[in-house]
Amino acid sequence: MADTAISVEGVHKTYGGRKAKDEKAKDKKKALDGLDLRVARGTVHGVLGPNGAGKTTLVRILSTLLRPDSGRVEVAGYDVVADARAVRFRIGLLGQHAALDEELGGRQNLELFARLHHLGARRARVRADELLERFDLVDTGRKPVRAYSGGMRRRLDLAASLVTDPEILFLDEPTTGL
Ligand SMILES: Nc1ncnc2c1ncn2[C@@H]1O[C@H](COP(=O)(O)OP(=O)(O)OP(=O)(O)O)[C@@H](O)[C@H]1O
Ligand SMILES: [Mg+2]
Repeated sequence: MADTAISVEGVHKTYGGRKAKDEKAKDKKKALDGLDLRVARGTVHGVLGPNGAGKTTLVRILSTLLRPDSGRVEVAGYDVVADARAVRFRIGLLGQHAALDEELGGRQNLELFARLHHLGARRARVRADELLERFDLVDTGRKPVRAYSGGMRRRLDLAASLVTDPEILFLDEPTTGL
């Protein structure tokens, strides 16, 4: 459906289930147990639940980092397993934990993300400038990320998730440290 951004039907995910032969393996953990979800385009959808409820697991499945054991998941009209590449072109992701290069500066991190998303060198520089400005990081753009404070890191991480101006943006606990 054209007005559907995310469609999840009967999704199951168990950790440690495949390799562990023993059905009652100690490390086996059912994280998602038949989840259904539909999110319309142009909306903001929040997922709430206690620690360990499976929120990050869901975000990782929606962003193609993890495969569901069963069920059907479509993001931007594409199947996350069969068409993972098409999904990746259309999404942005802010993970629960920062995905930044510690040794590079803020600006270099943003340019790196842009280049990995196939933006040309010039366009990548312009985009990095725009985002540093927007997230009030211009003054710290040259500092290596290891010298950033927690909140500065989070802002840079958020900026990186917006490098491509994605159709759909996944934010896992985006306000942590802000
Ligand atoms: N890589 C993994 N291997 C084994 N078990 C895992 C793994 N990742 C998550 N789990 C387990 O799956 C369940 C769901 O975890 P998940 O990280 O999805 O929860 P969450 O809702 O994001 O929690 P939080 O609010 O603490 O971030 C938990 O019981 C967790 O211990
Ligand atoms: Mg989580």
